[in-house]
Amino acid sequence: MSIASAAALSAIPDAVLGELGARLRATGFSTALADALKIGRGVAIELRRPIRLRRLRARDDSAARLLRLLCFGDALEERDAAAALGASTLRALLDGDLLAQVEGKVVARLVLTAADEILCFGDPFEAGSEAIMAIGVTTRALAKVGRGHGRLALDLGCGGGALALALAPHFERVIATDLAPRAAVIARLNLALAQVDNVEVRIGDRFAPAADERFDLVVCQPPFLSALPDASSKTLHGGTRGDELPRAILAELPRHLAAGGRAVVLTQWPVPPPIDVGSVIGDPSLGVFLLEAPPLSLDEQAAVYASAEVPVTDDAYPARARAHREQAHRLGLTAVIQTVVVLDRRFPGVVARVPLASGRVIDLTAERVEDAVQARVLLAGGELARARLRLSPGVRFASLVGARGAPPQWAAFAEKDPLVERTFLNAATLDLLRAVASAKDVATAITTVGPRHGVPAARGLELLGPVVAAALEKGILRVDR
Ligand SMILES: C[S@@+](CC[C@H](N)C(=O)[O-])C[C@H]1O[C@@H](n2cnc3c(N)ncnc32)[C@H](O)[C@@H]1O
Repeated sequence: MSIASAAALSAIPDAVLGELGARLRATGFSTALADALKIGRGVAIELRRPIRLRRLRARDDSAARLLRLLCFGDALEERDAAAALGASTLRALLDGDLLAQVEGKVVARLVLTAADEILCFGDPFEAGSEAIMAIGVTTRALAKVGRGHGRLALDLGCGGGALALALAPHFERVIATDLAPRAAVIARLNLALAQVDNVEVRIGDRFAPAADERFDLVVCQPPFLSALPDASSKTLHGGTRGDELPRAILAELPRHLAAGGRAVVLTQWPVPPPIDVGSVIGDPSLGVFLLEAPPLSLDEQAAVYASAEVPVTDDAYPARARAHREQAHRLGLTAVIQTVVVLDRRFPGVVARVPLASGRVIDLTAERVEDAVQARVLLAGGELARARLRLSPGVRFASLVGARGAPPQWAAFAEKDPLVERTFLNAATLDLLRAVASAKDVATAITTVGPRHGVPAARGLELLGPVVAAALEKGILRVDR
């Protein structure tokens, strides 16, 4: 099926979309979708649809019908679509090309996705390289991490506008920009669906549509796919390596950050050369924090990049995956590193890498990212002795079974927190970290614990300070805020 007509989509009255949004919310749609998405998680993504549909078809309620129609590409009898949507909304959505009639049944031409309470239409994946992305796993991750509040926020490369929608309740005004005019059409549709009126959508390259503005928060997930020589899309790729556009955006970003402002950019860096964001940004009046996932192999990267261009069920997929892998080889790359780049005007001159223990950026939260930033600021020159530190949320100490007679050992870890590195501890370190986590400051804890382990009081900070600093760096401890 061809892509839905942008002209027809733009002509859908806001009132119709507002009514559709209200109806979806009234059916508890986001929760119903989250439940439906739990079905079939054990199998590959492209195999999940039939089992999800089987369960939904067995139900006889509006939420299930709307899920089938709008989220899972199922065709509904016209009377069922009218019952779920209301007859006049059904007619208006058919006129607006959001729905279509195929072989006497009603099908959706856009696909609806959700992140918490945010609902966002996008093009179906098969729509080709001009498709506008709805909410993906990386969108969800950025919506969790790229939070804030203030006067003005920018969602750069907004696609369907999911991030702008997430920011809208927390900012006086949000500007959402994209190079693709189709993104602006779909973002406006999603804003009308949510009945949000403080987001302005603009079309243009990088910061051009907002050249004179200074933002309290910028969020951006630029295209970072590498482009094969035959790439036709102007918006899907970040360049031949993939990092050319993300680098250009990062280089321009500082000029658009207000005093105290922050930017959160989710991207991928092909290596080598090693990531050197300090030189890309070249503005010492900012703090730069790179939260780096473990390197992704080029094989995985090629498979993922090809799947963004053609469905994995398509005949073209194997050749596409091989072409990406060969191009990466020709470019001399060894890996790609998914990275959350945080630029922060509050901490000028601090540049830090924060290795993540897993590639699950979706498990990051804004609070924990702020913990990681505060830890690096303290490690970069704050006064550790006077700092008040606490265990990071979810950190546990497990005692390990060792060889008979060996000194006891513990592991510090936190399930599902990529900012905590699993770390082995001896008894003295465990004692120290527990004391630090409840003391009024680090110096007090060291004064109490040092003598118990033969550390002279006069040398406590010199000998045990680095142990505390290491636990802060590994995310076991956090600065109490
Ligand atoms: C990976 S998608 C991100 C969409 C959405 N923000 C999200 O996180 O789900 C990248 C978006 O950047 C847009 N884009 C590509 N090149 C751009 C450019 N030079 N300037 C502005 N936006 C661009 C694409 O059209 C696309 O919508």
